[in-house]
Amino acid sequence: MAIQKVGIVGFGQMGSGIAQVCAMAGFDVLAREIDQKFIDNGLKRVDGSLARVVKSGKMTEDVAKAARDRIHGTTSLTAFADRDLVIEAVIEVIDAKREVFGELDRVCPATTIFASNTSSLPIIEIAVATKRADRFAGLHFFNPPVVMQLVEIVRALTTSEATVTALREFVTRLGHQPVVCKDTPGFIVNRLMVPIMLEAVRALEQGVATVEDIDKAVKLGLRHPMGPFELIDYTGVDINYHVANVFFEEFKDPKWAPPALLKRMYLAGHLGVKSGKGFYEYDEQGKRKT
Ligand code: 3HC
Repeated sequence: MAIQKVGIVGFGQMGSGIAQVCAMAGFDVLAREIDQKFIDNGLKRVDGSLARVVKSGKMTEDVAKAARDRIHGTTSLTAFADRDLVIEAVIEVIDAKREVFGELDRVCPATTIFASNTSSLPIIEIAVATKRADRFAGLHFFNPPVVMQLVEIVRALTTSEATVTALREFVTRLGHQPVVCKDTPGFIVNRLMVPIMLEAVRALEQGVATVEDIDKAVKLGLRHPMGPFELIDYTGVDINYHVANVFFEEFKDPKWAPPALLKRMYLAGHLGVKSGKGFYEYDEQGKRKT
């Protein structure tokens, strides 16, 4: 059965971006948040992003409006009973994810495929909270999902071939590019990216160079679109701190331990763009001040 109706649980930065990509590709989207104000915030983010797509000439206003009309919000998971695929993008806390899927498992028919957008947690640990571990996989999008073409399809030990095939088709219909990988810490991209981020923070702690010069070096020396500190601020100090903790727990190797500065910035609430201060400072619109 081809996927037509998509459910998104968690309508934050990633959830709203994924919802938008699905709606732009013609899917009917139902997004769930715990409070109406988070639905309103997510829809505002979608409006802003669609306006950018229209402004850059990649979509007409009418087509963008039709995409926007395909996204509906709800505060209840019971409304997900007619979804063919549910993608979860809630907080990176295993118990929160397991609880969401436990409830969805009772609500959705046996045919519904479940996917988690987790960037670090073991897919199998979430999958076994359901009775459909064969129809469960990781579907890892990158920020911002509208621009970033890659989606990692993460195959847990229990994921069936039919589920991988259905998700491959789905990602292709989104106009994105799938890669398939095993359920290992960091999958492909974060396994390679996180060590760069952590090493950049350690280099800063050791006084190797300034934030600005480390970012400049990586952008001009490696042609990365953002330096490591710009990227940590963009994805969130909290996310990077949590991801490093998960990796450290898994590998027990100091190379993955979050550096002291990252932990202190997290504790101080210096989370990057979303809090207005991280390695750089930002205005209300998220534009860099310093
Ligand atoms: N919605 C719609 N369009 C957007 C957008 C958004 N949120 N953000 C950027 N764009 C579009 C712009 O409109 C512009 O389009 P145009 O070229 O057709 O006019 C294009 O993208 C480029 O944007 P800008 O000119 O504003 O700025 P940049 O050229 O600096 O690009 C960027 C911004 C795309 C974010 C770029 O800096 C970039 O690619 N950065 C790296 C992002 C990255 O590495 N993401 C992965 C993070 S890791 C992750 O997500 C995994 C997780 O597990 C932690």
